[in-house]
Amino acid sequence: MKAKAFYIIAIIVLAIGSCQHEPLVPPGQTPDGGGPVDPDPCDPEVVYFEQEILPLIVSSCAIPGCHDPGSAEDDVILNSYQNIMNTGDIDPYDPDGSDLYEVITEDDPDKFMPPPGEYPPLSSAEINLIEEWILQGAQNLSCESACDTTNVTYSIKIEPIISAKCQGCHSGSNPQGSISLTSYSEVRNVALNGEMQDAVQYTGDATPMPYNSNQLPQCEIDLIRIWIENGAPQ
Ligand code: HEC
Repeated sequence: MKAKAFYIIAIIVLAIGSCQHEPLVPPGQTPDGGGPVDPDPCDPEVVYFEQEILPLIVSSCAIPGCHDPGSAEDDVILNSYQNIMNTGDIDPYDPDGSDLYEVITEDDPDKFMPPPGEYPPLSSAEINLIEEWILQGAQNLSCESACDTTNVTYSIKIEPIISAKCQGCHSGSNPQGSISLTSYSEVRNVALNGEMQDAVQYTGDATPMPYNSNQLPQCEIDLIRIWIENGAPQ
């Protein structure tokens, strides 16, 4: 009798358990096409694709006329994890075997990316970050850090966002939208005329920014709003 009751309970428990499957995606990893699942807290040792690599590659490569979906130069589209892995020919754990890494470290100026003269090269810190991401397996990881809304000045909180997420397109001799965002005074002007907040919040008539990509994380949108409300201090 007791054994029978045990089996019945065991079957019920198993049946309930099997209805509560977590998605088959490791914690912090983005399933194809979907948003990040339960992001982990950010670990400084780990390179997070969603926060660090995607914005850098979109802003440096998925520029209109280059590797955005509309232009797809050389059939390379660099606007999402799948496209970066496939058309950027990323070989996990092997930077030198990955086309995308090869062209940003290339000696031959005809093959070097971004095209010399038209766009600034990636910095060595940015190249090292991409190398480290590939060495860690080129995974699609995401993390979540607490939003620190103290010291919202240009140099402490805003410049890092603009530099990572906007300058790839809004710098150089021919910046997108004819808007250069490389100095404090340039960013301040676009901030104080209202265009910047509308563009990152997806409000008003402004074209949503970053162009052709995901909306900024809520924390960064909040920091930009607070900075502008405080008069865009340096
Ligand atoms: C992948 C390239 C790209 C990135 C990254 C990018 N922009 Fe842009 N941006 C553009 C293009 C292209 C236009 C012109 C859009 C148009 O004319 O509709 C533009 C226009 C703008 C405008 C004017 C919008 C309007 O409709 O008046 C602002 C403001 C702007 N960008 C701010 C930003 C900010 C802030 C970031 C970073 C958070 C950013 N952009 C990231 C390509 C980019």
